[in-house]
Amino acid sequence: MKQIIAIITLLLGTLSAMAQMSTIPTPPAEGVVNAHGGCIIRVDSLYYWYGENRPYQGFTTEVGVSVYTSRDLQHWQDGGVALSVSEEAGSPIERGCIMERPKVVYCPKTGKYVMLFHLELKGRGYEAAQVGFAESDTPTGPFRFIRALRPNADKWPKDFTKKDIKKALEQRPDDYKDWWTPEWRTAIKKGMFVARDLKGGQMSRDMTVYVDQDGTAYHITSSEDNLTIHINELTPDFLSFTGRYVRVAPGGQNEAPTIFRHNGTYWMICSGCTGWAPNAARLFSAKSIWGPWKQHPNPCRGDGADKTFGGQGTYILTLSPVEAARLEISDSPYPTHIFMADIWNPKHLSHSGHLWVPITFENGMPVLRF
Ligand code: DGJ
Repeated sequence: MKQIIAIITLLLGTLSAMAQMSTIPTPPAEGVVNAHGGCIIRVDSLYYWYGENRPYQGFTTEVGVSVYTSRDLQHWQDGGVALSVSEEAGSPIERGCIMERPKVVYCPKTGKYVMLFHLELKGRGYEAAQVGFAESDTPTGPFRFIRALRPNADKWPKDFTKKDIKKALEQRPDDYKDWWTPEWRTAIKKGMFVARDLKGGQMSRDMTVYVDQDGTAYHITSSEDNLTIHINELTPDFLSFTGRYVRVAPGGQNEAPTIFRHNGTYWMICSGCTGWAPNAARLFSAKSIWGPWKQHPNPCRGDGADKTFGGQGTYILTLSPVEAARLEISDSPYPTHIFMADIWNPKHLSHSGHLWVPITFENGMPVLRF
């Protein structure tokens, strides 16, 4: 396979100089793909790159979700705002909320494009931990906001037995004043926070969406106070949860889930939880989306491997052999998977960079080489 390492760092050379000029608070956006925590889909011969439109300063969402288009994955045109914040006071997506990690999928059942995103309500930090749903007739939008909620209220994980439920209900957060003790970890694994959040729904922060070969869509998210990944099945219209879900690596503190399937195995690459700072990637595999999931060593190799080369994953873009050949990315007879990551710049989130690394296989295991 002809390998390429496509590294797109879109930080402007002039940025630091301009940032010092107090009369110009925001540098020009030319050359910046202001689409972070995003994803790419292909519709006919066009690629659509969705992501967080972030302000130059601050952490809240003032614009919404951006979309860019390209024919070759290299030259991108600004397609404007796919989903706008609302100007209506009290709307869940009121300007000043936080929209993160938008993922768009086409729903064959309804013929609509559906966007799921992590939503935090205005003025409430990261405590709401909800999932937003929006849909559109066209990939460029405008997407219509439909609802936001926490997944799976009143539902236990699908593999929990009556005994497991009893054990989870016996764990009381008030009994654990200190976090991170061995006893507290055991209680988390038993489902203490699943039980805590049962009525209002399970927390959902960093997230992705995956559509399996049979057309079933799954929302994969960092839940339980960022301690445990949940894989939540979506209804056929992709606009609600069926209530079927499993937990992955309980208490493992995984964020930024990304997923792909290769030769019948599901591979998930997550990050650890260190805010905007990069950390080592975590790799998991399973033969069924419902698990059991097994953890493997960090898949990154080379300089910066212990910090995912400065990035945090957001999506794995899979190209068919025909697409990869047309784009002169690969002549492999197998699909090409590209790990897309954000190089966060918390001082100026709009100007966070992008890092794309092809995933290769060595001894049957996925490898990311810088
Ligand atoms: C890390 C997450 O992966 C990002 O999406 C964002 O939520 C930051 N934390 C906020 O600190």
